Amino acid sequence: MIYVGCDHGGYEMKLAIMGFLKENGYEYADMGCGGEPVDYPDIAKAVCAEVVKSPENRGILVCGTGIGISIAANKIKGIRAALAYDYYAAKYTRLHNDANVICFGGRTMGTGSVLESLDVFLKTEFLGGRHKTRIDKISELEEN
Ligand code: RB5
Repeated sequence: MIYVGCDHGGYEMKLAIMGFLKENGYEYADMGCGGEPVDYPDIAKAVCAEVVKSPENRGILVCGTGIGISIAANKIKGIRAALAYDYYAAKYTRLHNDANVICFGGRTMGTGSVLESLDVFLKTEFLGGRHKTRIDKISELEEN
């Protein structure tokens, strides 16, 4: 399942993202907001609490810059949230980082490139191997 959330700075972009998900047959849940002013850590918490329940789950978070909401998401154990500034980053954060959440800036990124990045993020599998060793080290950081 894909969980999608935004604050007021990311609302328009979230609508475009949900349109893309629907058109492409993805199942998703909208975790808010509805365009009203909210605090992005609350939205990150709501989305990430669902994402960590299964390794198959994915999260999509949008705020004004994508920065605040990615910082908040990465405080949650089991979350690897990537602020994907372009297509290559979106692809390689799956291949190398096994990112389970992708973040975008609603005020800083274009819709076309966000949707291209999202498309590759959702289709790309983690490579494992030496990258798994590194992911395990990230998990260790959560314990200390
Ligand atoms: C909200 O005005 C804005 O601060 C937020 O969307 C985000 O850009 C924070 O990083």
